[in-house]
Amino acid sequence: MEILRDVVVLVHLVGFAVLFGAWTVEAVARRVRVTPLMNNALGISLLTGLILSAPWGLDHGLNYVKIGVKLVVLLVIGALIGIGSARQKRTGSLSPALFWPVGILALLNAGLAVIWR
Ligand code: HEM
Repeated sequence: MEILRDVVVLVHLVGFAVLFGAWTVEAVARRVRVTPLMNNALGISLLTGLILSAPWGLDHGLNYVKIGVKLVVLLVIGALIGIGSARQKRTGSLSPALFWPVGILALLNAGLAVIWR
């Protein structure tokens, strides 16, 4: 059971890595746009995060306030990507005000996960 949960944590980390990586590729190339890969990675983070939030009979309790905050941050990222991709389809460009928070909030969530115990 513990190994299974560790595997889910690993996939959860892959979700973060792909989201932040996909965003970094665009940021470094100075392309202000969101991509479907960001959306898919966010879906992986959400699904695995919810699975990890279930009671697994752990010896340490889960910090549900932290998990709630992470869920809200993830929903904001999802809204930014959703609104961003609709606008960029319609107008062909994306406001930096929608692009930058995607990466910053993804990093914030990873920071919350490892620093806030
Ligand atoms: C962009 C979104 C997210 C990022 C970047 C992220 C990042 C991380 C990271 C880096 C860890 C490993 C922490 C560690 O083992 O020290 C982690 C663990 C975890 N995350 Fe997330 N996460 C995200 C979204 C979510 C969501 C939406 C939920 C739940 C609804 C969630 C629930 C959890 C849980 C339950 C753990 C395991 C905590 C433990 O075993 O103590 N995460 N997350």
